[in-house]
Amino acid sequence: MPTMNTNLDEIADGIFQISTFLPYVGERGFTINQFLIRSDETLLFHLGPRRLFENMTEFVGRVTKISRIRFLAFSHVEADECGALPLWLKEVRRDAEVVMGDVAATWTGTDLTDHPVTALRNGYLLELGDKRVRWKATPHVLHGWDAGMLLEETTNTLLCADVFTQLGERPPVTDSADIVEWALAAEDVMQSTAITPALHTTLLELAEMRPDTLAVMHGASYNGDCRDALHALAEAYLHRLENQMP
Ligand SMILES: [Fe+2]
Ligand SMILES: [Fe+2]
Repeated sequence: MPTMNTNLDEIADGIFQISTFLPYVGERGFTINQFLIRSDETLLFHLGPRRLFENMTEFVGRVTKISRIRFLAFSHVEADECGALPLWLKEVRRDAEVVMGDVAATWTGTDLTDHPVTALRNGYLLELGDKRVRWKATPHVLHGWDAGMLLEETTNTLLCADVFTQLGERPPVTDSADIVEWALAAEDVMQSTAITPALHTTLLELAEMRPDTLAVMHGASYNGDCRDALHALAEAYLHRLENQMP
């Protein structure tokens, strides 16, 4: 296994970020974050690729027994989001549920696994006990027809999947408004965003949820002014869209 560097941080009350920096990916390295919401019914958001599984279980195991995890959830079907699903299913509770948006469940999810799948419609509230998460469908944001996010309502933490993806080694959490520029610089390299008129609208909808923390999947999470940052990102992408028009 090539070198990697993993950090474990509680980014909001009961929400733990397992952040693995992979220096060998691309020119500057790349981070994959998992989020564990510890509650009566513990939920893991982003299951990671298979090759990180052993490392992930070591760090998740510092927060909770793996055999206590009740929900395995992810934003959209892609290797970093759900590649290790079959491996997790061997270790978590027998009555664990695989949780995803209804588009993923309908078109892909039930083919990924024979395990029961819980399909979330937009706005669905999943009670975890002293925590609760609400599904926000975000088709094609940043990419993937099936994409969606979770808002943990008691801490007002938006698990925003690939939005604000950054390259290079970053701190686990930042309050720097530079996160907008970091995300746009990453997009210049990766071109992973579906830049459509819907992108602007969806980012503004996320801004109006007024999260206190953005749990970012790739790079630093953000605990600055989330509404402002989402507005700035929305405007920057609108500008890019307009520049692409003939
Ligand atoms: Fe993705
Ligand atoms: Fe991702």
